[in-house]
Amino acid sequence: MKTGSIAGQHQHDMMMDVNHDELAYQLFVQSYIQDINFRLQGGLKPLCDTEGTPASLKQVVEQRRRILKHPYGQMWSSLRRIAREFTCEAVGPAVERQLPDLIEKARKYRSSNRKIGSLQLAPDVKAPRYNTEIEIHCKPGGYHTELTADDVFAGAEYDRTTYLNTAGLLGPVMDRLGKDVAQWVKRSHPQLKPRRILEMGCTIGQSTVAWVDEYPDAEIYGIDVAAPCLRYGHARAEALGRHIHFSQQDAERTGFPDNHFDIVASHAMIHETSTAALHNIFAESLRILKPGGLMVHNDGTPFRDLTPLERVVPDWDTQFNAEPFISKMRASDLTEWAVEAGWRPDQVRHAYTSENLSRGVSVIGGAGYMVVGRK
Ligand SMILES: C[S@@+](CC[C@H](N)C(=O)[O-])C[C@H]1O[C@@H](n2cnc3c(N)ncnc32)[C@H](O)[C@@H]1O
Repeated sequence: MKTGSIAGQHQHDMMMDVNHDELAYQLFVQSYIQDINFRLQGGLKPLCDTEGTPASLKQVVEQRRRILKHPYGQMWSSLRRIAREFTCEAVGPAVERQLPDLIEKARKYRSSNRKIGSLQLAPDVKAPRYNTEIEIHCKPGGYHTELTADDVFAGAEYDRTTYLNTAGLLGPVMDRLGKDVAQWVKRSHPQLKPRRILEMGCTIGQSTVAWVDEYPDAEIYGIDVAAPCLRYGHARAEALGRHIHFSQQDAERTGFPDNHFDIVASHAMIHETSTAALHNIFAESLRILKPGGLMVHNDGTPFRDLTPLERVVPDWDTQFNAEPFISKMRASDLTEWAVEAGWRPDQVRHAYTSENLSRGVSVIGGAGYMVVGRK
């Protein structure tokens, strides 16, 4: 059983190993990304609209076009795009090198008599077109591609690249989004004693583990369409000693019964779904929640709550980082979408876990924003 850390990231038993050269490359990438995000990005300010400019899709698009005509904007954009490729190069081959071992280890966690959670895969559940037509945030093969039997590549790669891309801001086990939201739920709904909690789009369950920690008496479920991430996520949760039930399901139409969950959550999922899919997800959340249950879909801050400079990165991601739905989502009122999907207007609202989180964390898209529904 491994322990320790890879330069700040907790090295659980499923975490890839790195040799000297791989670690050197990854550390370079991490500091390169930090430099772009925390130093170079500020230099875009004079090219942006002035503070107070109302946000709209048109405003962010016109601002982006202006930035990209300027040599400084072109330099920043190129360096940022190359960062994505560096990250893939620094992590992908290292995961491939040890893939047979990682697959074997995940199999052992699945067949162990000591397992504490579960994994149910459903090969008939296909990744939706909005995930398969593009490689979201330039992740080679996306979340769902399987290279070999019982593959865990996409999950193992995601664990390490997400840590590097977010410059460690999600914490050593990358559970910060889940922790912030679960703690907010505890603070704002102390009377809620959940028996069953679901995270939709859980990927490798890094936020799901936080729900286990905050609600140790509840049954915790994580669903995703991507089998390689779920296999890795299940083994990772077992290695971390967290009791989670993973299953391969489409959040637009799950197999769960009506009125089943006390909390339905998601973290950083809804910006990667199409508009039509998000309507279905809001409707499905309503269907599977118990009366009085809580929906909390957590994602990036809407443009209207960001300064013009803070709007640049999510809009850049839409155009250049294969995340085509972000700008439309951030320019829209998602509570209206939830109402179109069947929620009553008095049941849904926007909320932030804390003011601090909604500002200055542009690298993870202004975490802390939530669309909240109380059934
Ligand atoms: C950015 S990742 C989410 C990360 C993770 N929840 C976290 O806390 O950081 C988006 C995930 O949503 C999943 N996803 C997208 N559409 C989905 C759908 N319709 N049903 C289930 N999962 C979906 C993708 O496969 C991917 O794993």
